[in-house]
Amino acid sequence: MHAKQRLTITIDGPAGTGKSTTARLVAQRLGLEFLDTGAMYRAAALIALEQRLDLTDGPAVALAVERGAMCFDWAADPPRLLLTRPRPRDVTDRLRDGDVTLASSSIARLPEVRAILVAAQRRLRDEHPRLVSEGRDQGSVVFPDADVKFFLDATPEARARRRADQLRAAGQGVDEERLLREIIERDAADRNRATGPLIVPDDAVVIDTTDLSHEQVLAALERAVRARLGPIR
Ligand code: DC
Repeated sequence: MHAKQRLTITIDGPAGTGKSTTARLVAQRLGLEFLDTGAMYRAAALIALEQRLDLTDGPAVALAVERGAMCFDWAADPPRLLLTRPRPRDVTDRLRDGDVTLASSSIARLPEVRAILVAAQRRLRDEHPRLVSEGRDQGSVVFPDADVKFFLDATPEARARRRADQLRAAGQGVDEERLLREIIERDAADRNRATGPLIVPDDAVVIDTTDLSHEQVLAALERAVRARLGPIR
């Protein structure tokens, strides 16, 4: 029997392209593990908020993030995020709150924080060598050696609409124009930051999800992976 090969698939792209869901499902279908790197930036933001740190102070936030010692519980699907110090606690349910979302986009600009999280992501890949890793910089910076790289995109309008649908489904009020403005601003910040900007890696498969269902996106990814790698062992 063949030993299972190492295999890294990266999925990058802006918010609202369905990246997380797609990454989780493609990992399930191919029998790989799934790393949500956005959750790590969100956990870093939560640490900074709880300690009332200045969200522009790179060294202070980075030190607190190191001390917080985040880790995933890989027994859960999708994995849960824990902060282990001063005592272990599962913070997963807090990570999607509005204040954490906003703060995560600030602390994602800090090179000191990115350096820590990039190193942590590489260690995680060593421990989980068959991995679908999803984020903004996974193919470009963190795993330039990935076997298959994807970049999911969609028009800002489609992404705002999806976000609005999610919020409505969660029973929240929605201002679609404001959502669209926020998405355009967040894109500009993500694309223009000095460290780990959102870019399309040269060798990435680009998929425009504007007019595709989740199922169609998933099928396109699976086809591309099998075309590049043959049957997955
Ligand atoms: O994908 P998400 O919305 O959970 O990401 C949260 C924030 O972290 C968002 O502002 C983008 C940032 N991020 C990043 O800069 N690099 C990554 N690899 C993942 C997320």
